[in-house]
Amino acid sequence: MAGAWIAGPPTPRLGDDPAGTEIRPLASPFSLGMVTVNPTPFLDLVAMATLETAVASPSGAEAVGSHSLGLPDFSSASYKDAYSRINAIVIEGEQEAHDNYISIGTLIPEQAEELSRLARMELKHMRGFTACANNLGVTADMPFAKEFFSPLHQNFQTALAEGKVVTCLLIQAILIEAFAISAYHIYIPVADPFARKITEGVVKDEYTHLNYGQEWLKANLATAREELEQANRQNLPLVRKMLQQVAADASVLQMEQEDLMADFLSSYQEALVEVGFTNREIAKMAAAALVG
Ligand SMILES: [Fe+2]
Ligand SMILES: [Fe+2]
Repeated sequence: MAGAWIAGPPTPRLGDDPAGTEIRPLASPFSLGMVTVNPTPFLDLVAMATLETAVASPSGAEAVGSHSLGLPDFSSASYKDAYSRINAIVIEGEQEAHDNYISIGTLIPEQAEELSRLARMELKHMRGFTACANNLGVTADMPFAKEFFSPLHQNFQTALAEGKVVTCLLIQAILIEAFAISAYHIYIPVADPFARKITEGVVKDEYTHLNYGQEWLKANLATAREELEQANRQNLPLVRKMLQQVAADASVLQMEQEDLMADFLSSYQEALVEVGFTNREIAKMAAAALVG
């Protein structure tokens, strides 16, 4: 699909599309054409897209204004309602991350001990975010979160069954970690004080996980490149869809879609640079999100 994934009009509330089948085309001019014909480095493309969106959308200025008014009302019914889904996604994401690192350890037995160390960190994160919900008196909507993660979960399980370690690492250690890092970065400034402290600790850990994935892929790039590009083509569109699905609820928490997407793309790009891809190659890989 050719719709842009950098910002645009409000997306449906997460609960509106429980099957997760709907992607609404967005209005941003960040087109595939710009990516494929323009040699501008990728971050510039992101900046351009974000700038164009900000100029085109008067809500950009309003969003800044509402931030300046202060933090959200953490006790309001609307905040708690949105938090029940966002928090569930985070808890499910940490559980998935735990399970995925244990699974990857079965594919790289010599790394199993290190991977189980990463997995234990994810369980600690999960407990921390569960405490955040308890602190606000919110019950996480776990069935919703399982549905939210199911396409990526399925792709990981298929790759695992086929012994595709490169695909598993791309899904977990690059895409899911970059997704988590972007969400936590954008959440920290608008979080309640209890959750802020926990999230600040978690995001440092997630960088070490992203680093693990990028170092392994870097060391194995010669043999991993083709599978990596194919896995990216299959899974990056799912992450774009997840970022769009989460937008309306995230906005209630004062986490704006443009910021989430720009931060995700930034971490994703930095990781792929470290793995050994050129800016041009990364722009092409990112374009998979626009056509997938
Ligand atoms: Fe984590
Ligand atoms: Fe992690």
